[in-house]
Amino acid sequence: MSISIKHIDQSRLAGVDFNNLPFGKICSDHMFVMDYKDGAWQEGKIVPLSNFSIHPANLTLHYGQSIFEGMKASADKGGTPLLFRLDQHVERINASADRMCMPNIPGDIFTSAIETLVDLDKGWIPPTAGSALYIRPYMFATDEFIGVRPSETYKFVIFTCPVGPYYAKPVSLLAADEFVRACDGGVGEAKTAGNYAASLYPARAAKEKGYDQVMWMDPVEFKYIQEVGTMNIFFIMDGKAYTPNLNGSILKGITRDSVIKIMQDRGIEVVEAPLSKDQVIEAYEAGMLQEVFGTGTAAVVSYVNKIAFGEKVLDIDPEAYEIGPYLKSYIERLRSGDQEDKFGWIQKVNQLQLAG
Ligand code: COI
Repeated sequence: MSISIKHIDQSRLAGVDFNNLPFGKICSDHMFVMDYKDGAWQEGKIVPLSNFSIHPANLTLHYGQSIFEGMKASADKGGTPLLFRLDQHVERINASADRMCMPNIPGDIFTSAIETLVDLDKGWIPPTAGSALYIRPYMFATDEFIGVRPSETYKFVIFTCPVGPYYAKPVSLLAADEFVRACDGGVGEAKTAGNYAASLYPARAAKEKGYDQVMWMDPVEFKYIQEVGTMNIFFIMDGKAYTPNLNGSILKGITRDSVIKIMQDRGIEVVEAPLSKDQVIEAYEAGMLQEVFGTGTAAVVSYVNKIAFGEKVLDIDPEAYEIGPYLKSYIERLRSGDQEDKFGWIQKVNQLQLAG
């Protein structure tokens, strides 16, 4: 697929301080845009990053028919951009699209759009360890109509942001006991805008109580752990790793899947099953709760240092963690080309695509 490119007149790259990258505030020079109408995707193009003009009746603004992905590009020592598990992101965005009645994006278009965009803006890949070029593909409804039905037109966009770590320090979690993120039959597994909008109020309440994030619990008994604001969650108890099983309400994290495979490869037993707060509290009381960490594209592997289940507060010391740091460094070394890619997760960006 050929993608037309309109280059920016004056790059903003020289003004970027790679040692000070607040997450998600700085965008690189170009973006990919592709419209869907008359039942088909139209030709995609790369243009300088610019604003959209939105009609007041735009369907997304009213009913939230919008989905997204989060990916990262890094570079090896020779400066070749590397992408991580691209195929999984294609699969997941299309699963989200199905759930939200949106058209699928053909894998070859998604892939060449990302490769071309990343190659064009590869100067924006931060050289600093732990930083990356965050890639945000997303799709939103563009019908100008305020009746409730799926849109007939959409915009698919990809833009990129050089980012540092999402969480600069260990996070504290407050287990939900009033608000819920997702329930059976809902949209918890879809990466759709509304899931994040609905999390804001409980997250603000948790912050007011002194916690960084909400740990979502099951919506019936508030007994079983689901996930954390922007991450899947893992507990190391008595040498084994425990994480809630994917049950339709939990985001199918690609980093989640990756750390499971890395741990299994290292001989660590991983239990994917419903995980109750009682199990975690019991392990804590017995001195067997060794590590708690979250995983996500933005968060990579982020350590948890405190969890409150109502009045019961568990303090855990990330300084003593071993498995979390091993996983974090494994993923970072994969991303810099310093770790053998035995799972075949890394894709080098084909630099020949940039003829146009
Ligand atoms: C990601 O980890 O890429 C996410 O999509 C989380 C985001 C809401 C920051």
